[in-house]
Amino acid sequence: MRTRVAVIFGGVSVEHEVSVISALQAIQNMNQDKYEIIPLYISKDRVWFTGEEMLDIENYKDLKGLLSKAQKVVMARTEDGKVVVQKEPRPRFGKSILSEVDVAFPIIHGTFGEDGVLQGFLELLNVPYVGCDVLSSSTGMDKVIMKNIYRDSDLPVLDYVWFYSTQWTEDPEAWTTKIKEKLDYPVIVKPANLGSSVGISKAENEEELEEAVDLASKFALKIVVEKMVQNMTEVNCSVLGDYEHVEASVCEQVLGSDEFLSYEDKYAGGSKDGGASKGMESTNRVIPAEIGDGKTKEVQEIAKKSFQMLGCSGVSRIDFIIDNDADKVYINEINTIPGSLSFYLWEPAGKPYKQMLDELIQLALKRERDRGRLMFSIDSNLFSLQTGGSKGSKGSKR
Ligand SMILES: Nc1ncnc2c1ncn2[C@@H]1O[C@H](COP(=O)(O)OP(=O)(O)O)[C@@H](O)[C@H]1O
Ligand SMILES: [Mg+2]
Repeated sequence: MRTRVAVIFGGVSVEHEVSVISALQAIQNMNQDKYEIIPLYISKDRVWFTGEEMLDIENYKDLKGLLSKAQKVVMARTEDGKVVVQKEPRPRFGKSILSEVDVAFPIIHGTFGEDGVLQGFLELLNVPYVGCDVLSSSTGMDKVIMKNIYRDSDLPVLDYVWFYSTQWTEDPEAWTTKIKEKLDYPVIVKPANLGSSVGISKAENEEELEEAVDLASKFALKIVVEKMVQNMTEVNCSVLGDYEHVEASVCEQVLGSDEFLSYEDKYAGGSKDGGASKGMESTNRVIPAEIGDGKTKEVQEIAKKSFQMLGCSGVSRIDFIIDNDADKVYINEINTIPGSLSFYLWEPAGKPYKQMLDELIQLALKRERDRGRLMFSIDSNLFSLQTGGSKGSKGSKR
């Protein structure tokens, strides 16, 4: 019997459309002899849908029309412990369960999909899933937490200052002084937990800093301000594996059309029709990155360490900024569900997309087996052990 894989995509982040592209690309490349694919599309208003028609990108042009016809579903756990895709609302007569699920495969970039929220839902259902777990997803998504962990692990990150937007509003002068002293201009201001360059801007002076913080505050409560590297090379490297074994892909060099990569650069840049139809695949890039063997090795080694340091699993892409003047490599960020799942960095490394997807699903099943050896609960009922009434906390020793 084929393994039933539920590919979950769409979602409520700013990268909704990119997720649709990444997921449909992956589905097209999955080994259909081995895997039965159940597409699960989450609309921007959080309704789940399934059906063959969700597999054709053309259908998304008329989204209203598509969703008015598509089958609404929920993913749920049945009494006998099966995880299923079920019609919503449940029909009064006839079958409500459309399929069982053996493995879930989240392909949602950004908030609620890449940040541990969806992963937590899958944990509660107790279904194996591809990619990072709750903790690695959430730490990878928060640029401040991620930097703290890397800094404490002696992995190279750029200097930064962070604050809540409310703290800024209370005393902008104090923060401006701190930023000037610690980082000096120019700086880059970012919302702490978004992707795709949304809400990010550069500031050369106090006035611009204020504007940049205002912009970032529209997207997140937590803001991070970083030293801007002026003469930089941007290089990305993908890592595949888990806590036991990892490998690094070839590196790509990313070429932005402006001072930094915008949303349009990333997703609409090279596509012939000018639309965002190709996902990360269309970014202007050079593969392999032209940074020499030494730097390539260095980037790959740091990439592998930063993957394992967060406890990642599956495939991630670690983005680097090389400061050409200082000749130093810095981790910029980790993407735990990268655009197009970074397949284009594995094909030149000799791993076809089909094989990579196979490895990802197998890693999900391996994690399930590894965890199966751990104890999650103790088989006893504390209440049934008590004699002579409840003592509450008074008599308890834990
Ligand atoms: N410290 C920095 N110095 C110079 N450019 C930067 C810096 N941080 C980010 N950038 C530019 O901004 C882009 C987006 O920043 P990034 O942190 O990767 O955010 P996102 O999560 O939105 O991709 C980067 O690809 C890079 O071009
Ligand atoms: Mg980035």
